[in-house]
Amino acid sequence: MKLFIVENYDEMTKLTYDIIEKVVKSKENPVISMTTGGTPEGLFEMMVNEDNKDNLDLSNTVVMNLDEYIGPKDAPYSVNRYMNERLYNKLKKQPKEKLLINGDPDKIEESIEEYKKLLDQNKRDIQILGLGTNGHIGANEPGTKFDSSIFLAHHEDSTIESTMKQYNIERSEAPDKMITLGFKEILEAEQVILMASGKSKAEAISKTIKGEITEEVPASYLKDKDNVIIIIDQEAASLLF
Ligand code: PGA
Repeated sequence: MKLFIVENYDEMTKLTYDIIEKVVKSKENPVISMTTGGTPEGLFEMMVNEDNKDNLDLSNTVVMNLDEYIGPKDAPYSVNRYMNERLYNKLKKQPKEKLLINGDPDKIEESIEEYKKLLDQNKRDIQILGLGTNGHIGANEPGTKFDSSIFLAHHEDSTIESTMKQYNIERSEAPDKMITLGFKEILEAEQVILMASGKSKAEAISKTIKGEITEEVPASYLKDKDNVIIIIDQEAASLLF
C-alpha cells in the first residue's frame, strides 16, 4: 500500500483525478470503476470540467460501479441516478460503455450474475473507493469475510444514517441493502484507490492504518496489498500521528 497525505479535499481530488487521467490517456481500452457518495463529488466535477474543456476523452473508456442500492432506478439515492446526474448527463463525450448494476428488488440474483459476467469481461484498471465512518468499503460492512465476492449486503445503522444525510431523506425512505463488489473484485483492479477526507473519517483511517488487519475494520484488509493507494487529507490523517 502507498499512502499519500495531502493538504485538503481539493488536493485529494486532484491526485485521484491525475491517476485516472493517466490511465485513460495511456491505455488502449481503459476500464475504471467508480464509487459514489460525498467523497468523489469533486472528482466527478473535475472529470466533467476536463471533458468539457476537451482535456479528457472517455470515449474509449468503460465505466463501471462499485455498488448499487436496492430500490427504484430513479430513487434519489440510486447510484444509477448519481452517475447520470453527476457525470453522464454533463459529459460532451460519453464513455464507450456505462455498466451500471441493476438494483431492481425483484431481480437481485440475476443482477449479481449479470454484473459478475461484466466484471469478468472487463479487467479493471482502477477501482475508486470511499471509506465509511465504520471502516466499510463499498458495502463490505464490519464483519464481512475477506473472501467476499459480489453480493447483497445489509447496511449498518451508521451507513443508513450517512445515506439519509447525503440525500436528505427520512429513515423510512432510506435503502438498507445494496449489491456491492466484494473484496475479491475490489482487489482484482490493477490500482485500488481509497479516498478519505475530513475529521469524520479520522478514526476509521487511524484504525485502518495503525490497527491490526481485522474483519471489524474492512479497509484494514487493503493495507498490505501492493496495488492499493490510500489518498487522504490532513483532517482524515489527524489521528495518525
Ligand atoms: P461518503 O461515503 O463518501 O459519502 O463519505 C463513503 C462510503 O460510505 O463509502
